[in-house]
Amino acid sequence: TLPIKQPTSSSTAVTDLDDPNHPLHHHRRTVNDFEYGHALGEGSYSTVIAAKDKKTDKQYAIKKLDKAHIVKNDKVKYVMIERDALSRMNHLGIVKLYWTFRDNRSLYYVLDLAPNGELYSLIRRKAPFDMETTRFYAAELLLALEHIHDKGVVHRDIKPENILLDDNMHIKITDFGSAKFLEQDNKPVAGGTTGSSRSFVGTAEYVSPELLRSEPTLKEADWWAFGCVVFQMLSGKSPFKAATDYLIFQKIKNLEYEFPDAFPPVAKDLVQRLLVLAPEKRLGGEALGGVDAIKNHAFFQGFDWQQDIFKQTAPELA
Ligand code: ADE
Repeated sequence: TLPIKQPTSSSTAVTDLDDPNHPLHHHRRTVNDFEYGHALGEGSYSTVIAAKDKKTDKQYAIKKLDKAHIVKNDKVKYVMIERDALSRMNHLGIVKLYWTFRDNRSLYYVLDLAPNGELYSLIRRKAPFDMETTRFYAAELLLALEHIHDKGVVHRDIKPENILLDDNMHIKITDFGSAKFLEQDNKPVAGGTTGSSRSFVGTAEYVSPELLRSEPTLKEADWWAFGCVVFQMLSGKSPFKAATDYLIFQKIKNLEYEFPDAFPPVAKDLVQRLLVLAPEKRLGGEALGGVDAIKNHAFFQGFDWQQDIFKQTAPELA
């Protein structure tokens, strides 16, 4: 055989490609590019697993979704919405979606790892939070929600279980599996489900009264849930608790909840303006000045909205 001269590949090109930060390495990832660790969580159609990129050693959380199970239960639409909504997001308070890939059995979403668990567990361990800590997490949640809404998305399942904590105890919102896209004017996108075909999404305790009345759920539904989370940080429990989903729905429809005696009055005023049955009269809605009206509430008095809270040190809970 003829000696074939190897093309002399320029040494710079080889070095570049060995560099894990080379843009080429940013594009495609596959199952074998990661080392898998322990399970972080379990959903009805998915498992979240800690994983490490073999090339860069960077840690991620990989959400693995079972294709057959999703198709069988007619959840394809939600899986697509979750991917499309997450890929629009670019905010420190929201888990970032880096890559998606698939194999024969599963879909994989490579996400930011939030190693400090759920806000839910922090509330279980430390509630009632002091006002400084409550204000801090409320502000982070508000800014993340503002970003989600600016990108034309309603999350629709805001609750302490879906608010994760990163290595510095800042929040990362996750689980866009109930999300919905909006038109520019806070209306559901055409072709979306309407009327009686609208199905229940979200979690009973945090569901908005308009959804229970079969009205459209818009941005205001997330501000309702935001009010529930503020209540929970200061009291240790969600406002509308009951033995069954049916009883929870009754309480929500009747706005049946009570503040503990020790609840700070300025926070009580904020929660009372958020837990309002009519979405158009709820703080955060366009008619009441949008998200700025929440930022300007006395609850956040003295809080500097110009600082980058996600770069600050998180308060230490006693
Ligand atoms: N559980 C579910 N999603 C997670 C994530 N992104 N990081 C850590 N734990 C999780």
